[in-house]
Amino acid sequence: MSNRDRRQSHESAIGHVTGKAVYTDDQRPPFGLLSLYPVLSPHARARILTLETAAARAVSGVVTVLTAADIPGQNNTGVIRADEPLLPTDEVSYWGQPVVWVVGETEHAARLGAEQICIEYEPLPALVSVADAIAAESFHSAPDVCRRGDPEAAMATAEHVLTGEVVMGGQDHFYLETQAAWVLPATDGTYQVYSSTQHPNSTQTAVADVLKLRLNQVVVTCLRMGGAFGGKESQANPLAAIAALAAHKTGRPARVSFRRHQDMIVTGKRHGFVGRYQVGCDRDGTLKALVLKLYSDAGWSLDLSPPVLLRAMLHADNAYYIPHVDFKGYLTKTNRVSNTAFRGFGGPQGMMVIEDVIDHVARTVGRPPHEVRELNFYRGEGDSNTTHYGQVLVDNRIQRVWSEVKTNARYDERHEKIAEFNHHSPHRKRGLAITPVKFGISFNKKVYNQAGALVLIYTDGSIQLNHGGTEMGQGLHTKMQQVAARSLGIPSDRIRMMHTSTDKVPNTSATAASSGSDLNGQAVKDACETLKARLRPVAAELLGLDGPEEMVFAEDHIYCLTAPHLRVPFTEVVQAAYNARISLAATGFYRTPNISWDPETYSGQPFYYFAYGAAVSEVEVDGFTGTFKLRQVDIVHDVGASLNPLVDLGQVEGGFVQGLGWLTMEELVWDDEGRLRTFAPSTYKIPTISEVPEAFHVHLLERASQNGTIYGSKAVGEPPFMLAFSVREAMRAAIAAFGDEPAWAPLTSPATPEATLDAIDAIRQPLAQATASIAS
Ligand code: MTE
Ligand code: MOS
Repeated sequence: MSNRDRRQSHESAIGHVTGKAVYTDDQRPPFGLLSLYPVLSPHARARILTLETAAARAVSGVVTVLTAADIPGQNNTGVIRADEPLLPTDEVSYWGQPVVWVVGETEHAARLGAEQICIEYEPLPALVSVADAIAAESFHSAPDVCRRGDPEAAMATAEHVLTGEVVMGGQDHFYLETQAAWVLPATDGTYQVYSSTQHPNSTQTAVADVLKLRLNQVVVTCLRMGGAFGGKESQANPLAAIAALAAHKTGRPARVSFRRHQDMIVTGKRHGFVGRYQVGCDRDGTLKALVLKLYSDAGWSLDLSPPVLLRAMLHADNAYYIPHVDFKGYLTKTNRVSNTAFRGFGGPQGMMVIEDVIDHVARTVGRPPHEVRELNFYRGEGDSNTTHYGQVLVDNRIQRVWSEVKTNARYDERHEKIAEFNHHSPHRKRGLAITPVKFGISFNKKVYNQAGALVLIYTDGSIQLNHGGTEMGQGLHTKMQQVAARSLGIPSDRIRMMHTSTDKVPNTSATAASSGSDLNGQAVKDACETLKARLRPVAAELLGLDGPEEMVFAEDHIYCLTAPHLRVPFTEVVQAAYNARISLAATGFYRTPNISWDPETYSGQPFYYFAYGAAVSEVEVDGFTGTFKLRQVDIVHDVGASLNPLVDLGQVEGGFVQGLGWLTMEELVWDDEGRLRTFAPSTYKIPTISEVPEAFHVHLLERASQNGTIYGSKAVGEPPFMLAFSVREAMRAAIAAFGDEPAWAPLTSPATPEATLDAIDAIRQPLAQATASIAS
């Protein structure tokens, strides 16, 4: 199949643009459907003294009120640690925490009821920032520690030793479809849950735990998601659980769906981090040692914070070899939302630190940052090609993507032109930067690296395809349809993608870690291979051949490699198989080989392979306003042999723009009382089409087939997010150009106009100080 044939458009493209694609909360309402509305905590931390629900119950249309006392099972939705009460009993832990839910005939009635709920609180001292938590030594657990070599000794012999702090904000997922769940109770005490969840099996577990049921009494179905980005990996569970509790208590179907502001206030986000480093380097900028402390804003409960921190720790090298390291990671416990998975899963936070460090080093030794980056790339064999956690880079493609994008973008030529421009432009400075991405693919937790599929062939040759992955817009279903079509040699349009459901494929992993198509693709192919093995002898017999060995499935026919002119239609073989009483349904299964992780030694081979990419960005920064314009972006990204270049291009572009938003404009502001002040699109700015540069050139690395993956493809969902560091570094270059001599200044993330102006001021400081001393 040619590359062009693989450019199949998204299987729901028409549904998306016509509005016909059905999401959880757009389903046809079942008879008697109730709605829920929450009462949110007005304090970051407080004791609940009294809770009065009678007035709410008296409101017309209010059916009932849900409090912790209604929960028959466990009052917990924490996925790693049972520290997340679905409904608080005596204390609230963050501003905006749902305390009570009102159930009404309509959402309006439930809302009117919620306004009548009376709760008396006694406010308690709260930790409302990472700095607060560090000062109070408030942590969820013992720190993560990763060491290699002898960083203290290396530091002692280094030419330069630099220290710095990187402060980075979090990010709201801002999926277009907010969190939602519908729960339909059956008369036999079982439940059908529809949830906008990336992890149906986890949602099933949460519902079963809260209602004290066995897993087989709960079916969770995900129709599709209008974006998830990690925000529906664990955060979908409380909503499904509370709707299930309403269904359990009333015996009626119940729905819940967050309004935008509720979603932004209640749910966890990307973790903000503080990184503190000490780096030792040679005169030429070669890294010798890095001592790093990473502080993650885990929030009030643990959620997925440990694996997010772990990934940050494992990506604090990005693409660079650091001989001696001492990394420590801390999960600060604050009275804020419980932060969660978000595209990159900690990788971006770890990588931001090293990219800042490299820039700091380069501007200190007086070399262009791109040269210092190149100088420090993983390379060769042995130590210099081994990560700080002991994984050897097999098929290292950093240099390849780097040199290709550098050539495509005419980096060297533009670098000179920009210096010339800046020389003549006192108030507007341009910056050009190139940054690499190396991102590990696999769930760190080994058990999650498995997937299942269920393929059903009907007698007319049409197919229902089930797999354990969920569709959130990333095109997983499209790719799975293509894998099945390619394996069975039939057209995609005869394959119907079924909704993801725990009664079709059990015990599934989250669709996350970018490994949706890697894992489910192999499982789908495995099921198809089983079916083909059953159909081969049938086809051979229809063709009058002796042996079924070399039967090929292609172009909707089956034929023998040695006699391709003799062929029989796929559907005819299917019918013959049915008549011969041969099963036309099969499951498929896959587990990723050769991965290991030892938490004790903080080392192993956690990643099946790495995805690589590199980007060049050019910006222009206005010295009066601190605003910037992104002038041009060039990307070369490695997706292996693409399963679908159209989908992959969308993922690279979308990931980059989402990264751009995190790094330059999306600012979460909490006040001193721990209240989020930016919970609407009016105060929280996400990138729009106007931020996308006109010159946006994305190339997928060619001749890049990967060994041991589904049809040679590589994961694409998250890695491109981190290509946006090229924008941050280009801004740094522009900021540096406001100074007279090579200088470095910290730049807070996101690089909003305020942060940019602060950095420009700091760069100009030596000049300002000099002027001041002349004046005095
Ligand atoms: N693309 C779209 N359109 N919507 C999404 O929610 N989520 C991202 C990425 N791309 C997302 C997306 C995240 S966080 C991950 S982990 C992957 O898709 C998950 O899907 P995959 O494993 O099938 O790539
Ligand atoms: Mo993606 S953050 O792994 O859902």
